[in-house]
Amino acid sequence: MKITVVDDYHKMSEVAARMIVSQINEKPDSVLGLATGSTPIGMYKKLIDYYKNGEVDFSNVITFNLDEYVGLSKQDPQSYIYFMYDNLFSHININKESIYIPNGTAEDLEQECKRYDVLLERFGPIDIQILGIGVNGHIGFNEPSKDLVLRTHVAYLSEETRKANARFFDDISKVPTRAITMGISDIMRAEKIILLASGKSKAPIVKRMLETGISTYIPASILKLHKNVEIIADKDAASFVEKRNCIA
Ligand code: F6R
Repeated sequence: MKITVVDDYHKMSEVAARMIVSQINEKPDSVLGLATGSTPIGMYKKLIDYYKNGEVDFSNVITFNLDEYVGLSKQDPQSYIYFMYDNLFSHININKESIYIPNGTAEDLEQECKRYDVLLERFGPIDIQILGIGVNGHIGFNEPSKDLVLRTHVAYLSEETRKANARFFDDISKVPTRAITMGISDIMRAEKIILLASGKSKAPIVKRMLETGISTYIPASILKLHKNVEIIADKDAASFVEKRNCIA
């Protein structure tokens, strides 16, 4: 696990976007694993800028999103599919047929999870998986728990996560209780994983993730078992980390 500490959110976004651009320029049909939430928004803005400057071509890229809320339709501004079009897909030349996001309104959710894993098998492995980190250490919606689920599944959101995500909704009662999420094994199959962390609110969990061993109660700590993980954290998110503990 490598950690790169950068000055601020702007720099974090730029470094991550540059890595994606290099990946696509090297392999135009790259498969990207994408995240939503506040953290990657700046990175998506940068990618749009690079696309507009002619530095990257998304026409052969395939994307898989990590997760989607159960019950929110694609017209709902809080759904992750809406988020992705709003923050990235509508502004670049990606082929809309090459965008994969779990369908949170599928009638049969179990079947939808299976369908997603079949697609991941067919188009994978993911070349670069982008992750944010929840304040409780979740990745995707793999919440702290005694057991972590390997493949795509329906997850119940923890109260901590619902509270953290309430900022996007009118009030906490509107935050969905379930989501479809890629599982831990789906994430770990990626060739490279980039975990982004920004802001003081992430400082305690970034420290715990790095300085604790491996625990299913800190799902991001599992990433220590992956051979190619890079954490890009801004100074605030890395402020509690003691340097000697940075490399796992
Ligand atoms: C989003 C996702 C989540 C977020 C995490 C951090 O697709 O999978 O794990 O990455 O909740 O969210 P932000 O970036 O809003 O702090």
